Amino acid sequence: MKEKIIEEIFRLKEQRRAIIISHNYQREEVQDIADFVGDSLELSRQAASVDCDVIVFCGVNFMAESASILSPEKTVLLPSLDANCPMADMVRVSGTRKVWKTFPGYEVQPTFVFPHDFTLIDMKRQYPGVPVVAYVNTTADVKAESDICCTSANVVKVVESLPEDRVICIPDRNLSAWAQRNTGKEIITWDGFCHVHDRVRAEDVERARKGHPEALVMAHPECRLEVLERADHVTSTSGMLRFARQSDAREFIVGTEVGLLHRLRKENPDKVFYPLRKDMICPNMKKTTLEKVLWALKEMKNEIKVPEDIRVRAVTALDRMLKIK
Ligand code: 13P
Ligand code: SF4
Repeated sequence: MKEKIIEEIFRLKEQRRAIIISHNYQREEVQDIADFVGDSLELSRQAASVDCDVIVFCGVNFMAESASILSPEKTVLLPSLDANCPMADMVRVSGTRKVWKTFPGYEVQPTFVFPHDFTLIDMKRQYPGVPVVAYVNTTADVKAESDICCTSANVVKVVESLPEDRVICIPDRNLSAWAQRNTGKEIITWDGFCHVHDRVRAEDVERARKGHPEALVMAHPECRLEVLERADHVTSTSGMLRFARQSDAREFIVGTEVGLLHRLRKENPDKVFYPLRKDMICPNMKKTTLEKVLWALKEMKNEIKVPEDIRVRAVTALDRMLKIK
């Protein structure tokens, strides 16, 4: 059954001149059929340069949106249209934003420092002239209102590239704290967070280290500062792949979404990887299945298209980021 689906996906891929792109958190079977698997920065670069007519984007909606912004002449398909990133939905240009009441795995509910109808426009009015750095985990209209984008792989370089000493970073408060720590600039942050990474606490790192005293701890900058301060290496998902490959250590504790373990284990069969917490699962990243990839390709459904007036402004912020080496 699975083989039949894969065979059909490959046949249609040829026929439609399509490329399958997958984020590092996707299901194992989806990663295994992709032409390219990577972190957000690599996927943006890939989407901007790949030669094809159709991109099947196995990830969440802001990633497919970025692909469409960067390659408007290509058809970008998102196999699971409801695959969203709750953090990206925490900031709105105008109107009310979604308020997230409960997340699985939370003992303590996070608090929002801004009123629920506070928008990006309000924030820009409050801090006139302060440049806005938008994490790629934002909607296209938010990128369009921002000066430059960043990912977890390049946030420090992006913030340092700006001449101003004060910078607004949206939407992730943890990434902002990491940027402030590593740039010496004053970061004004939105109060957003990723529910998968924000649930990890210092005690989790200490518990994992006790269980695996030989292991090095890698953590994603979407984790809280108390976690990042206790890690041996803080980096993006593909940064973790590079670190594990190049390190002489044999054991690693992985502080990010568990989907990354697939590539880590596949590419380093002689090394051992433990999740920092077993419940670091992004439900939205798991919505894409082989069946949905096949359906999207067959029916050419779930196209992601950004209105041109928004796209032309959003592409400036993405292009500025991509120019930073
Ligand atoms: P990376 O860019 O490090 O792959 O992270 C994307 C993401 O959504 C993290 O939660
Ligand atoms: Fe968004 Fe977090 Fe899922 Fe990444 S892991 S897509 S930041 S909810």
